[in-house]
Amino acid sequence: MSNLKYKHLFEPIIIAGTLFKNRIITSSMGYLDVLGNRDSGYTHKSEAAAFYERRAAGGSGMVTVGSCYIDKEFGDFGDRHVFLDDPYSLFSLYDIAHSITRYGAVASAEIIHCGLYSNRKTGEPSYGPVAMEDMGRPVYEMNEGYILALIEKFADAAVFAKRCGFGMVTLHGAHGWLISQFLSPKLNTRTDRWGGAPIENRARLPLEICKAIRRKAGPGFPIEIRISGSECYDGGYGIDEGIALAKQLDGYADLIHVSAGSHEIDDVFTITHPSMFLDEGCNSVFAAEIKKNVSLSKIVTVGAFSNPELMDDIIASGKADFIAMARSLIVDPDLPNKIRAGRESEMIKCMRCLSCFSNVQNNGKFYCALNPKSGREFTEKYDIPAAQKKKVLIAGGGIGGMQAALSCAERGHEVILFEKESRLGGVLRCEENVPFKRNLARYLDAQEKAIIAHPSITLRLNTELTPDIAAQIGADVLIAAPGACAAVPPIKGITPENAAIMPASHAYIHPEETGSSVIILGGGLVGVELGIYLAQMGRKVKILEMQDKLDDGGNHLHAKGLAVEIKRHGIDVNLSTKAIEIAENGVLAETKNGNQLFQADTIVYATGQSPLHKESMALHAAAPEFYVLGDCVTPSNITNATSSAYEISRTIGRYI
Ligand SMILES: Cc1cc2nc3c(=O)[nH]c(=O)nc-3n(C[C@H](O)[C@H](O)[C@H](O)COP(=O)(O)O)c2cc1C
Ligand code: SF4
Repeated sequence: MSNLKYKHLFEPIIIAGTLFKNRIITSSMGYLDVLGNRDSGYTHKSEAAAFYERRAAGGSGMVTVGSCYIDKEFGDFGDRHVFLDDPYSLFSLYDIAHSITRYGAVASAEIIHCGLYSNRKTGEPSYGPVAMEDMGRPVYEMNEGYILALIEKFADAAVFAKRCGFGMVTLHGAHGWLISQFLSPKLNTRTDRWGGAPIENRARLPLEICKAIRRKAGPGFPIEIRISGSECYDGGYGIDEGIALAKQLDGYADLIHVSAGSHEIDDVFTITHPSMFLDEGCNSVFAAEIKKNVSLSKIVTVGAFSNPELMDDIIASGKADFIAMARSLIVDPDLPNKIRAGRESEMIKCMRCLSCFSNVQNNGKFYCALNPKSGREFTEKYDIPAAQKKKVLIAGGGIGGMQAALSCAERGHEVILFEKESRLGGVLRCEENVPFKRNLARYLDAQEKAIIAHPSITLRLNTELTPDIAAQIGADVLIAAPGACAAVPPIKGITPENAAIMPASHAYIHPEETGSSVIILGGGLVGVELGIYLAQMGRKVKILEMQDKLDDGGNHLHAKGLAVEIKRHGIDVNLSTKAIEIAENGVLAETKNGNQLFQADTIVYATGQSPLHKESMALHAAAPEFYVLGDCVTPSNITNATSSAYEISRTIGRYI
């Protein structure tokens, strides 16, 4: 009899002769530049191995290495992940697989072919279900011979993955890549046995691949297939065909992993990777429907999980057999072990900001906004302890200052943290009542609690750190992290006396002070998110932005979720529109069509932040070692603040 609180989630299970120690899967995530090939200039295989290893060490029962390509020439999007048809990948992949299996977790290689989207980055032609043009390149139709050879190539890739030490494969049949192109009624209009209206025809390719893998890789090697339960867009298939498809695959794949949507449609991307505006476990409905209709395969559900009660209930009530998570295990790889030990209150919950994914696409790094150790697992693993313990003063208890305090204390330094306000959290506290930011608020509370509880941190609230105080204490190190304050735009008529005009931070805290119509000046993340918040409360919102597009602050994937909400709430976005004067009932602005009056009851400015340079510079001589971090350097984002806090803390006491 299990004493575990979430006993269904931790019930071991044997599938195709393999023991899965629990029902938690690290969902597919592809690490870039893991080549280790003859022709690669460099390789990040050690970083990649450490990334997956950390998820295995944190307690996941299975860890998936995402995006392993089966065809280097015609199956690769161009992102340089892993090639399974290149024998020179073996040593790198062995390292990666072993980094997972040595924790008793099952290592799965996600095998993928991009089909018509292959070679997009190089501009070379590609092959897909039907002939067409994609981004100015020809896409050739795969003929019967090509398809038969491709099936063998998939199976060979699985055999190679097995040789590299993987215990199973995950066939990527979801989200718009080759197999889902064959499954989609919109794309696969072939008239032969591989396409057209009958689902048996469209499902033939994944079915034959599953059979070929079984034939070539042999028994004792579980096969998982990832499908979209519904494509979630007009013209794509819905859950009825998702069920029909799963019935075709039932028993041929040991696990049917039910995701949703497609990455090619911007609005739907935010369902595949549920945005912060969607509910916890929002895509589990698709898995539950499929689970009712299959009898042999086990069912995996994925998307926006972080609540242990919900996860356990999904398994207990038979809606799915496994829970897969990507982002929740980026922000907290120890989530399985914490839940298992009944320490779920210590979990850091993902706020679904998608900074991690945008960072991977922009810079190749799995940097998470809230967990600065993510993407740095390799250096973290071989971290050298601080040679000297130091006394560290930190000015500013915002997100960066809090992280610096905790990271310094973790490394054995004595920390005194000064915050001029009565609580920690800084400017982000203004968003704590925003429903779609609840996990950010939870994180700020958790950081604050950890600081208060830490024996090596002294907290001085309601106290601004001055050079005199610093001199009296006589610290070794001073970290200035005072942040920034709202910049008041130089627009005629913006006066503090006018109650109808306010900064974004005020509108966040006191939305009740805004009228029924609101103009937001500035289309950056702060302005747009505020607009959505106010629109959710029934306000009619107009955004005026000087530039010709909204500013996503480098997080282009979060911007997709914002765009969906802008549309949903009918927010009126006015680009290339420069406010020039506050008028009696609104704002006079310069537009492409001349000056125009925009009317509203309340005007909110979200036109950026002014870094507190003076306050930071005043402290520079107050200790022998001096650092600045976060918005006081230049206004930036959460990821930069937490990353730099963590890196600075690792440097202190290490070299001098
Ligand atoms: C940084 C990142 C990389 C991802 N890479 C892949 C990938 O290579 N292959 C894949 O099938 N899905 C990939 N995904 C999608 C996830 O596996 C998962 O389906 C999705 O993020 C929803 O789960 P979550 O809400 O737990 O994050 C990726 C997701 C993230 C956040
Ligand atoms: S960056 Fe944001 S979405 Fe990604 S894991 Fe961290 S909190 Fe979650």
